[in-house]
Amino acid sequence: MSISTPPVGIADIGVTGLGVMGSNLARNLARNGFKVAVHNRSEGRTQNLMENHGSEGEFYPAASMEDFVASLSKPRVAIIMVKAGAATDAVIEQLAELMDEGDIIVDCGNSLFADTRRREENIRARGLHYVGSGVSGGEEGALWGPSIMPGGTKESYDRLGPMFEKISAKAEDGAPCCTHVGPDGAGHFVKMVHNGIEYADMQLIAEAYDLMRKSLGWDANTIGDVFTEWNKTELNSYLIEITAEVLHHTDAKTGKALVDVILDQAAQKGTGAWTVQNSAAFGVPATGIAEATFARSLSGDVEERAAAQETLPGFEENFIIPDPQAFVEDIRLALYASKMVAYSQGFELIRKGSKEFDWNIDLGAMARIWRAGCIIRAQFLNRITEAYERNADLPLLLADSYFVEEISAAIPAWRRIVAFASQTGVPIPAFASSLSYYDGVRAEQLPANLIQGQRDFFGAHTYHRIDGGEGVFHTRWAEEGRPEEQWS
Ligand code: 6PG
Repeated sequence: MSISTPPVGIADIGVTGLGVMGSNLARNLARNGFKVAVHNRSEGRTQNLMENHGSEGEFYPAASMEDFVASLSKPRVAIIMVKAGAATDAVIEQLAELMDEGDIIVDCGNSLFADTRRREENIRARGLHYVGSGVSGGEEGALWGPSIMPGGTKESYDRLGPMFEKISAKAEDGAPCCTHVGPDGAGHFVKMVHNGIEYADMQLIAEAYDLMRKSLGWDANTIGDVFTEWNKTELNSYLIEITAEVLHHTDAKTGKALVDVILDQAAQKGTGAWTVQNSAAFGVPATGIAEATFARSLSGDVEERAAAQETLPGFEENFIIPDPQAFVEDIRLALYASKMVAYSQGFELIRKGSKEFDWNIDLGAMARIWRAGCIIRAQFLNRITEAYERNADLPLLLADSYFVEEISAAIPAWRRIVAFASQTGVPIPAFASSLSYYDGVRAEQLPANLIQGQRDFFGAHTYHRIDGGEGVFHTRWAEEGRPEEQWS
């Protein structure tokens, strides 16, 4: 079947790039009553979409980019769903050449927010709008309702927002999981942090699993049952739910638990690393996300792991766990407390990014649009929204009254688990670093005074005194500590 030229100015919105995410987004739009122009560089994908799903709504397939753009009603809205990087730049350029003032180009891929800022500036200078939009929820989400995080101008949201809100997931109270995040790269920045938190959540769950496996010797199925139970508690979330499903799954080939035949090397596409890089750049100690990202890197370091396995001793202590149920409850609380830390750190990063780029992001609204559709969707996000409703300028999420109460109740269990794992040699980087962060952020006195002394010693970098007001001080360390005749 060849693709004929679509009518001019008919479609409400268009999607170019019809991989699974692109076609699912197009199908979601069509199912919700929008007239959707569809285009792909190679025609085969467009034909596939029309053959398999053409009856799901009003689609307008186009063979060329020219026909695709012409088929859109003005101001035109074209969604790009191609690979991040050079492919995105090439399609943006093609579209911008064909579009007119006021038209809107939307990038729904996982682009780096700095690229989005650059592209937005360039496209705005040409009289068009550029929207970098986070879309979370994977293939199913794109089809049935994702969480959508659009950036760009307010004007572009006025045109695009109603369509995106309609196709987005709806929270329990019916609210759409989509809102205007802020100007230029704000949407992609928030999606980046979402993914960073996703990494932390997944690593914490994996550490809980590892503790049960190594310390209690439980099999995947039994641990799966624990996650099913945990999903009925404060931990209720999509990631806990799918963890139970993964652990309960049997491998058709071997009859073993499938998880036991999966190689223990976690891959990553880069959004976690972007979050870590940016948290370092903004000086936000997003330690939970960093540990989660590095834990994936460590798992993939095949050569290094082999060398270490052959040589490095553990000196683990022998242990007995007298009450496995109590131990499991301790793990649950350690997971919950570490999760609160990871989210607090993630929201801190959004707050700093928003300040740095003048985005004016409503932090409570971010938690609200993550309540359904996205990978980190969870009951827990309601508590975050409520915290920012109590105080929109909350300097630290953990300092909100609800979180103070929840984390206080978890501390003894959290300390027991971190101590136990350290003594018995189970790696728990995210649990342990979250607890250290917690102790650091609440400490009245940190050893940073000594670091300032060292810096001043070797580099004359100066320091502030506790009794010295605003001024800076420098000490001639090697000299002033010794009698004057020994000064060199
Ligand atoms: C989402 C996911 C999505 C994707 C990640 C996975 O929000 O829908 O986060 O963006 O699954 O790319 O990233 P890794 O391959 O790095 O785990």
